[in-house]
Amino acid sequence: MSAPLVEARGVVKRYGPTTALADGRLAVLPGESHALVGRNGAGKSTLVRILTGLEAPDEGAVRFDGDPAPPLTDRDAWRAKVACVYQHPTVVPELTVAENLFINRQPLKRGFISWRRLKAEAARLLDTWDVRVDPDARTADLKVEDRQMVEIARALSFGARFIILDEPTAQLDNREIERLFSRMRALQDSGVTFLFISHHLQEVYEVCQTVTVLRDARWITTAPVADLPRRDLVEAMAGESIEVLAEQAVDPGDDDRDAPVLLDVRGLTSPAYRDIDLTVRRGEVVGLAGSSASGKIELAESFTGLHTPTSGTARIDGTPLPFGDVQATLKAGVGFVPRDRHDQGLVFGMSIGDNATLSVLDRLGRFGFVGTDTKRDVATALIERLDIHAAGPDQPVSDLSGGNAQKVVMARALASDPRLLVLVNPTAGVDVKSKESLLARVDSARDDGTAVLVVSDELDDLRRCDRVLVLFHGRVVAEHRAGWRDHELIASIEGVDHG
Ligand SMILES: Nc1ncnc2c1ncn2[C@@H]1O[C@H](COP(=O)(O)OP(=O)(O)OP(=O)(O)O)[C@@H](O)[C@H]1O
Ligand SMILES: [Mg+2]
Repeated sequence: MSAPLVEARGVVKRYGPTTALADGRLAVLPGESHALVGRNGAGKSTLVRILTGLEAPDEGAVRFDGDPAPPLTDRDAWRAKVACVYQHPTVVPELTVAENLFINRQPLKRGFISWRRLKAEAARLLDTWDVRVDPDARTADLKVEDRQMVEIARALSFGARFIILDEPTAQLDNREIERLFSRMRALQDSGVTFLFISHHLQEVYEVCQTVTVLRDARWITTAPVADLPRRDLVEAMAGESIEVLAEQAVDPGDDDRDAPVLLDVRGLTSPAYRDIDLTVRRGEVVGLAGSSASGKIELAESFTGLHTPTSGTARIDGTPLPFGDVQATLKAGVGFVPRDRHDQGLVFGMSIGDNATLSVLDRLGRFGFVGTDTKRDVATALIERLDIHAAGPDQPVSDLSGGNAQKVVMARALASDPRLLVLVNPTAGVDVKSKESLLARVDSARDDGTAVLVVSDELDDLRRCDRVLVLFHGRVVAEHRAGWRDHELIASIEGVDHG
C-alpha cells in the first residue's frame, strides 16, 4: 500500500472556548478522490484551513509525502503542495482568465508585462489540463464550474497535485455537477488527488473511493466508500441511526385550493424571463425549478427587490409590490433567504442575535429602541428552533460554520413573520439532519398561512411543495403537483419533455 500523499494526525484547533477540532485525522492516498463528510460544525472547513496552511493547529501535525508541512509563512511552499477551491471565488472577477492565472507573476519583457506571452502561457496551461475556457474571457462572466476549473488550473500551475474542493457543488445545477465530476475524473487520471467535501452523499458515492467522517470535532472512521452503505455513513455522521429522506414521492398533505391568493403575478418580463403568470395562495408552498440558466433565481429575486422586471406586475394581497427596493419589499411583508449568504445574506461583523433580528428591529421596539434582552430572547429562541450549532446569540456570525450561517439567514427570514417567504436554495450547505429541521420550519410557516416560494436545485426541497413550476429559458414550461416522480421533474428541468 502506498504512503499517504497528505496526512494529518491528532489535530486540535480551538477558537476561544470553542474546540473546532479535538481529534482531526486524515490520510489521503495518492491518486484517490477522498470524501470528507460530517454535520454542520463538525470541523471539516477547520481541517481544510489547517491542511492548506492558513492556520496552525494547536496540537498535531500535517505531513505531505511523509515530510513535515512547511512553515505557515512560506506561502510558496504551501502553494506547491495544496490548494482549496471554495464556493466563493478567490480569483479576481474583473480580470481575464489569463490575468488571474498569472496574477503577481506575469511574464515580464524588459520589466514590462508581456501580454502576448501571458496569454500564450495561459492558453498552454489550460490546454495541458484540458480546461476549455477562453483565456481572454472576463472571469466574472464565467459559469461557476468554469471559474472553479480556472482555480484548479492555477493551483496545478504552482505544482500542487492535491486539490481540496469544499462544497463545490452547492451552487451548481445537475448538468454542471456532472460536468465538474467528469473533469475531476479526467484530472484524477492525470495524477491529481482530491479531497472532496459535500453534504450530498450521493455525490460521495459517485466520485470518491474513500470517505472520512468527522463528528463533533473528532475523527470517526475512514473507509472505502464501497464498504460503507449510505445508512451506515449517515449513522457515523449523526452518531445515531436516523431516517434519511427516502427518494420517493411525498405528499405534503392537504393543500387548500380555496385559500385566498396572496401573490399574484401577471406578465412579468425581464431579460432573464418572459411573460410569467403565477399565483401563490396563503399557506401554499410553490417550488420553482430549472437549470441555472432558466431564470428561476432572477424571477424569485424580483419579489425581494434584488432584480427588477422590465414589465408586468406583482401584487401582494392586491397591493402592487415595489420592484428594485429591498427595504420596501421587506416592509410589504416579504421575507427571504437569498442565493448568496456572503453577498446578500449576513452582516458578518455582527452577532448571530443581531443578524437574526435585523429585519424586525422596528417591530421589536418602539421609536427605534430595542431592549438588548428582547433581542437576546428572540435570538435564543431562533437558535433553538433552527438547531444552530453556536456558543450563543452573542457569537459573531463570522465564526459559524457554513451550514450554521445558512440557518441564521433562515432565522432572520422567519423572524419578520412574513406574508410571503421567498427561499433561494434554502438548504444549500446544510447537513442531512439539519435539512429536516429547516424544511419543518417551512411547513410551520405554511400552517401559519404564509405563502412560500422555494427556488431550489434539490429535489428534497421541492418534494415538500404543493406545486412545482419548471422554468426553461425564462418561461414556465411545466407544472407538477405534489407526488411527482424524480425522473418526471428532472425531464422537465432538462427540457426533454417539452420540445
Ligand atoms: N474563527 C472561528 N472562531 C470561533 N469559532 C469558529 C471559528 N471557525 C470555526 N469555528 C467553530 O468551529 C466549529 C467547526 O466549524 P467548521 O467550519 O470547521 O465546520 P464544518 O464542518 O465545515 O461545517 P459546515 O458543514 O457547516 O460547513 C464550529 O462550531 C464553528 O462555529
Ligand atoms: Mg464548512
